[in-house]
Amino acid sequence: MKLSPEQLAQFERDGYLFFPGLFSPEETKTLTDAVPALYARREAYNVREKGRDAVRTNFAAHLYSEPFAKLARHPRMVEPVEALFGEKVYMHQFKINGKMAFEGDVWQWHQDYGTWRNDDLMPTERAMNVAIFLDDVNAFNGPLMFIPGSHKKGVIDAKHDLTTTSYPLWTVDNALVAQLVERAGGRNGGIVSPTGPAGSMILFHSCLVHASSSNLSPWNRVSVYLSLCAVSNHIRRFKRPEYIAHRDFTPIECLPDDCLLKDYPVELPWKNGMPGSALVTSLDRIDEPKKAA
Ligand code: SIN
Ligand code: MN
Repeated sequence: MKLSPEQLAQFERDGYLFFPGLFSPEETKTLTDAVPALYARREAYNVREKGRDAVRTNFAAHLYSEPFAKLARHPRMVEPVEALFGEKVYMHQFKINGKMAFEGDVWQWHQDYGTWRNDDLMPTERAMNVAIFLDDVNAFNGPLMFIPGSHKKGVIDAKHDLTTTSYPLWTVDNALVAQLVERAGGRNGGIVSPTGPAGSMILFHSCLVHASSSNLSPWNRVSVYLSLCAVSNHIRRFKRPEYIAHRDFTPIECLPDDCLLKDYPVELPWKNGMPGSALVTSLDRIDEPKKAA
């Protein structure tokens, strides 16, 4: 899939692009059908909502689930990102966020690159977020909210919020959010929420300020979030477990466009369990030799 000059200009201006219904219902069903069995696993890679059993985020399914391994190599998703960066990309993070009916909790205002820089020492913001809806997203089931143009602010000072939800996040303070919303048009477009059918895709800049509120509706809002990083911009520290921040910087090789509907061989390295090494973390930089004791 090639982005038009208008789409490129829109991405530059707003920091996101929305593709309603990009994946067909048949393609999307191959993914949605695989989610309950993944969420049922009692594994570290399933982070549950605070004080609840509902899954907030499942990490790294592309390493142990065939349909998601195929999605991770889908040309409709990978090719526009490669074109934007002018470089091959690798998978930095892979999440299936639940935002389950009645139970899905908030995601505070944040930029993803803030976390990737502070925790993972990713050198620059040359990494892209991709959201793919597995359920219809509407005004009631906790849609993503963006502040258009906020990516132009670059990296914003953030504070590490370890208490609001079950998942630590580097969050942007309310006064700055209010300023950014005002600058983006205030009540006239200062916050936008792309909503649409299952199978829709959003590409959004890693510095775009975003959030979502809780899901009090009776409808799940399961979405996949893939973070694709330019290979030369790979992370320099393994402070977080490997199921959260990946350590394999091999460029993604795409499968054919019909890969979700046909059989293609994919590697599933964690099919029989996550290796113990995935839980080993370190504060060392991986590009500097260790100092002699
Ligand atoms: C995220 O920002 O990483 C997730 C937001 C959401 O699932 O609404
Ligand atoms: Mn985010």
